[in-house]
This record gives sequence, structure tokens and C-alpha cells, in this order.
Amino acid sequence: MDFSTTIINWYNQNKRDLPWRNTQDAYKIWLSEIILQQTRVNQGLPYYLAFEENFPTVNHLAQADEQKILRLWQGLGYYSRARNLHHTAKIVVSDYKASFPQTYNELLKLKGIGSYTAAAIASFSSNEPVAVVDGNVFRILARIFDVTLDIAQNSSKKYFQELAESLMDKSHPALFNQAMMEFGALQCVPKNPDCTNCVFNDRCVALKNKKVSELPVKSKK
Ligand code: ADE
Repeated sequence: MDFSTTIINWYNQNKRDLPWRNTQDAYKIWLSEIILQQTRVNQGLPYYLAFEENFPTVNHLAQADEQKILRLWQGLGYYSRARNLHHTAKIVVSDYKASFPQTYNELLKLKGIGSYTAAAIASFSSNEPVAVVDGNVFRILARIFDVTLDIAQNSSKKYFQELAESLMDKSHPALFNQAMMEFGALQCVPKNPDCTNCVFNDRCVALKNKKVSELPVKSKK
């Protein structure tokens, strides 16, 4: 079975039911991604639900009182993220007629949205075939394909991005990206992954070479 089919089948059998996966609303996907930056899913989940309930559209968020946003953000830390969230909501209302951008290139123009977040929103909301590349994706690909590039080096990112896009099933970009993130979070974990019960154990080069614990390579900068 090819890589993409294998990971999507695994995902369909093992995924957690998370609210931002049941929507194609770019605004809600953006909300979830900003909340989940530097935050674990279990910790971020109640915050996402509170924001979705209090600010169901980007208009609601743009018009909100900043003190209310900061109050709902309490406990998540990095308060500049909450202020950027408010700022970007206002920009989307004023410059995009309150219609949240969905293309990778438009998304990159917004404050607080880098390549990872732009790829997540573009693929999840409209199935644009851009691969997300985060720590999970580095780890999975470095191990299965024995990529020894230093992930702390900016130049390595392009290699992983192209590798991920070459593996992506272009008719299911959203599923593929969700599957990669979930596989990294639940199966191909940083420490002591359960390789005996892994759907890639017949082809994982790092496993074959007993190098799983050494990959990905990350130098201290
Ligand atoms: N962390 C960041 N984005 C996520 C998503 N879409 N699903 C699960 N965990 C995530």
C-alpha cells in the first residue's frame, strides 16, 4: 500500500474526535491553530470551545472587547498571541470583507500566520494541496526515510516540505495532513514509540537500522 493510503487508513481507525476537524470554516480552523501553538490538545480544547461559543464568526471576534479576549485566554500564556488574534480578526473584517482567506499565499500575508499555519488552514478549509511541516512531520519522515538533515537548519525545511508533498494524495490533502499530525502525536512519538505495532514497520528505514531514537537530527543552535 502506498504511503498516503497507509497513513490515511491508520488515521481513520485511530483518530481522536476533535471539534476543529468537523469544520471547513477557515476562521474556526485558524482559531484552533493559534490556540494550539505551544499548547497541548487536551489543554487547548476547552479554550477552543469557549472562543467558538463566544465568537462564532470573525466579525464577533473583531468587535469584541480586548479585555474579554484576554480573560478567555487566561491560562494559555503568551498573551501576544491573543492580541495578534484580535488584530488579525480586525484586518480580515476590514481588508477581506470579513471573509477569512483560504489560500496559502493570502494566508501568509496575515500577522501570526507562518507556513505551517497557512498550510493547515488552506488544506483543512479548501483542500489546497500544501503539506503541513511541523515537528511531527519532521519526525515521521526522518525516521521512515532515514533523512539525517538537521531540522534546526532552515534549509532542511524545504526538503521535508517537498518530500511530504510528493507523498501526499492530492485528492485528499486535508485528510493526509490531519493524518500526519495525528500519527506524529499518537504513534510516531518522540520517546519510546511502539514500533512493533506500527503500520510502517515493514518499511521504516530507521527501525531497520535501529536508529529510531536518533532521528530526527536536531542540533542546538
Ligand atoms: N495541533 C495543531 N493543529 C492540530 C490539529 N489540527 N489536530 C491535532 N492537533 C493539532
